[in-house]
Amino acid sequence: MVLKATSLSKKDLLGLQELKAEEIGLILDTAESMKEILSRKVKKVPALRGKTVINLFYEPSTRTSSSFNLAGKYLSADVMNLSISQSSVHKGESLYDTARTIEAMNADLIVIRHKAAGAPHFLARYLEPGVINAGDGMHEHPTQALLDLFTIRENKGSISGQKVSIVGDISHSRVARSNIWGLKKMGADVTLVAPDTLIPEDIEDMGVKVENRLWAGIESADIVYLLRIQLERQKDALFSTLREYARFYGVNGAVLSELSPDVLIMHPGPMNRGVEVDDKAADSSNSVITEQVTNGLAVRMAIFYLLLGRGGKDEFID
Ligand code: CP
Repeated sequence: MVLKATSLSKKDLLGLQELKAEEIGLILDTAESMKEILSRKVKKVPALRGKTVINLFYEPSTRTSSSFNLAGKYLSADVMNLSISQSSVHKGESLYDTARTIEAMNADLIVIRHKAAGAPHFLARYLEPGVINAGDGMHEHPTQALLDLFTIRENKGSISGQKVSIVGDISHSRVARSNIWGLKKMGADVTLVAPDTLIPEDIEDMGVKVENRLWAGIESADIVYLLRIQLERQKDALFSTLREYARFYGVNGAVLSELSPDVLIMHPGPMNRGVEVDDKAADSSNSVITEQVTNGLAVRMAIFYLLLGRGGKDEFID
């Protein structure tokens, strides 16, 4: 397997809004090579030997933080996970000063998750190391969307023309926003399904359809992408109860049995089983939720590799 390009020609990965379709394609193609590495007995290549990656997670994470950590290790980078709860952030140090401290240690890349939208963009403007957005507030979660695009392409052969229904708390979801940008750029047809209270105003301007009724929104879908209700981000009561939400918008075994036999069920995690999805749908043969996690590793390896641009021989690819 041979990679045609070895660099993204930019130092940061901040969002899908600013990526071109060709750049998305390059990341997905590179992730295919990385996935092959993950299938090897020895899952370690020297591509990023001598490079340093710092993970800065100001919000909780299971999937994203652990896969960035492993992705760096499989590419032989030195990876440090800064524990925010043990850091000088609790003595009042600002994000900027924490990041400048890391820069002074000659880091090559900083991966950041922060509750403030725009925090990674702010750091990228002022710091020399590359910055990867691992989720900024309700704004973007670009690596999640890229792994989702990879999973769709792997399972369906292409992204263009696929009918994707995103169901759930669109208003508070950075995953939805990044996926809309990415899916539209790659030629998919996107429908958002939720009660009005969970749909942002003017979202149709992004080229998507909006539907308030679950069945009408998903009946012809090739992919049903479920989102968690993000109670931690909701300031007001936007629906009566989780039980009521599950009744009208949850995708369960009975709903799944009426969908196309080839439909993909996707979810970025963490899932709230019994709310947006039940066990039958989440664990069905249509579900690619665990594949998404594996693909997240391959996609994050690809992003590290492309941002730190080897610019030379692909020494680990036969
Ligand atoms: N999908 C996602 O971002 O999961 P984590 O919050 O566990 O990283």
